[in-house]
Amino acid sequence: MSAKTKKPDSFVDWFRSSSPYIHAHRGRTFVVAFGGEAVADGNFPNLIHDIALLHGLGIRLVLVHGARPQIEERLRNRGAEMQYVNGLRITDEAALAGVKEAAGAVRVEIEALLSMGLANSPMAGARIRAASGNFVTARPLGVRDGIDYCHTGEVRRVDAQAIQQRLDAGAIALIPPIGYSPTGEVFNLSATDVAGSAAVALNAAKLISLVEGDGLRDRQNRPISNIVPAQADRLLEGEPQLPEDLRQHLAAGVQASRRGVSRVHLLNRQLDGVLLRELFTRDGAGTLLSAAPFEDTRTATIDDVGGILELLEPMETEGILVRRPRELLETEIHRFSVIERDAMVIACAAYYPYPNETMAELACLAVHPDYRNSGRGDALLGYVEQSARHHDIRRLFVLTTRTAHWFMERGFAPSDIESLPVQRRQLYNYRRNSKVFLKELS
Ligand SMILES: CC(C)(COP(=O)(O)OP(=O)(O)OC[C@H]1O[C@@H](n2cnc3c(N)ncnc32)[C@H](O)[C@@H]1OP(=O)(O)O)[C@@H](O)C(=O)NCCC(=O)NCCS
Repeated sequence: MSAKTKKPDSFVDWFRSSSPYIHAHRGRTFVVAFGGEAVADGNFPNLIHDIALLHGLGIRLVLVHGARPQIEERLRNRGAEMQYVNGLRITDEAALAGVKEAAGAVRVEIEALLSMGLANSPMAGARIRAASGNFVTARPLGVRDGIDYCHTGEVRRVDAQAIQQRLDAGAIALIPPIGYSPTGEVFNLSATDVAGSAAVALNAAKLISLVEGDGLRDRQNRPISNIVPAQADRLLEGEPQLPEDLRQHLAAGVQASRRGVSRVHLLNRQLDGVLLRELFTRDGAGTLLSAAPFEDTRTATIDDVGGILELLEPMETEGILVRRPRELLETEIHRFSVIERDAMVIACAAYYPYPNETMAELACLAVHPDYRNSGRGDALLGYVEQSARHHDIRRLFVLTTRTAHWFMERGFAPSDIESLPVQRRQLYNYRRNSKVFLKELS
């Protein structure tokens, strides 16, 4: 068959479409957290294969594992069980022995899987080195409300330098939910605490939490694809039925996000290939928590008009955005979403629905120049997409003169004026000659 008549090849197309992500992720540090449940699962080798693939693509990986079911099993075998008070475990001497054994056994299990290399298997030729060690310094939780938590601890410090050295040498770092104290004691830690602290200490590009169950869902049981810390706070406070595992990952993620980890992903670990879907496809597969500290993403109110005008004015003068007089902004203020930081509007976006066509326009997306390149544009787009989905909008369009690529990189495809809702077509400004881009919302 000649090249000209060649049919589309889904494998080639798929592989090509993942290449921007491969380039973007190479050399970045990702902390991946998963519970002992994942290790005990028959599908764990598949997860390890995917981790090996990420490693092969040049991603610097730090794996943080839990060991709860393995610890509980050991305690049960001895006729004991882990005590919990206020959701915190009490690690007495017997429990600590179980923790050490379980963490050791899980580590060996993971190292064994990472060492596989049989021909004709996904691990052929991988030759992965795993490095574990005394990376985490811990302190005791101590006595709280009269309860002595014994050997249950919290992270005091993560030796980022030691981990970086292992990563520089090409290894995958493996961190158990265990910490050591300067007094030589061993502490039982929560894997989510360790993972969040490691991500912060390493200045990781991503913290990826593989959670039990479906992941974050809204009240209508629809997956939440994007969330900002303030929304996550509201979920943590207002949704008592949030599963404990998810709650812990979310809380650790919010903390990590506020301490500078720009992207935290919460993924359903039971979904086969979830890491690959999340990292190498446009729409991802789980929830992305992103934002900077002390920021709130919310619908604008009339009090924001001044702040929005100030933000937009320089971009209007440059001709990047269409000028909006104050009166228009005042009447349309409910169409705007803003990111507020320290009482200042640092980003905004407007959303104009056309319900009859199940379409909506995203307009006026702008981030203050001092706050660009930190995922805020993405966060606002996610916020608008989420609200569009809530209103059963299927397609989001945008008219732009200079920002085409930013939108294309986020799943918008070039379109034309004919595809716009009739009402919007009539308003199209031919002198401005903006290009139309459209995104199908899944
Ligand atoms: C476009 C804009 C909203 C992005 O906001 P942001 O918070 O910086 O975006 P993010 O942090 O999510 O994304 C940053 C990435 O987008 C890229 N980017 C920024 N502007 C871009 C553009 N015009 N075209 C292509 N890519 C662009 C950055 O280089 C960065 O990519 P990198 O990390 O690979 O280097 C912001 O640059 C802006 O306000 N621009 C002026 C207003 C505008 O053009 N709005 C669109 C009107 S339709």
